[in-house]
Amino acid sequence: MKIGVFDSGVGGLTVLKELLKYKNEYYYFGDNINIPYGNKSKYELQILSSKIIEFLLSKDVDMIIIACGTVSSNIYEYLKNKYDVPIYDIISPTLEYLKDKNYFTIATPMTCKSKIFNNAIECPLLVPLIENNQDVNKVLKEYLNNIPFNSNLVLGCTHYPILTNEINKIRPDLKLINMGKILSDKLNLPSTNLKVRLYFSKVDHNLINNIDKIIDTDYQLEELCLNYQK
Ligand code: DGL
Repeated sequence: MKIGVFDSGVGGLTVLKELLKYKNEYYYFGDNINIPYGNKSKYELQILSSKIIEFLLSKDVDMIIIACGTVSSNIYEYLKNKYDVPIYDIISPTLEYLKDKNYFTIATPMTCKSKIFNNAIECPLLVPLIENNQDVNKVLKEYLNNIPFNSNLVLGCTHYPILTNEINKIRPDLKLINMGKILSDKLNLPSTNLKVRLYFSKVDHNLINNIDKIIDTDYQLEELCLNYQK
């Protein structure tokens, strides 16, 4: 099976990492030249995501996974209605899992504004810090400060599982909820041969460092800048 996965950058690799238990042909696109998506308008998100989906369709993928909380929370219906290929968002399985549970959420400004999650705290600075391999501790402490003891905490942006160790160190009492894991457990995909192709709109040393931190498998990497037309 050929599976397309996309995000604004390396965050979606935390979803891909969970999907790798199913051996398939993965085509991943990370639009890191346009990062962050978390403060873009819905219109911009529609243009950027459509270009990416059309690229993935050119690779003949059988299904597409939106490995971005911001795109999933704001324009999933738009994308699902626009294309014939099955498209899965990253958030719905987590909402199902959370039914009847109390929880807090950390996410991007646009995901918080969509009101898809309860008790959502905007964390605008985390994605750029993660992408640039910079220290997150100071801002992370501030964001986590107001979350009550022992809460369930939804990592509402797919970049945040990269910070699992840092969050556990600052707040070992929190129960972290990883959307990629919940989606992957729910999908139940077939398994044949594993092939991983990664496309990023900008390839540099930071990116390669980040990829190798997140996924532990062989991959082919290519720089590919899609042409965005307004
Ligand atoms: N991984 C994206 C998400 O889940 C990050 C969005 C951004 O680029 O700000 O929301």
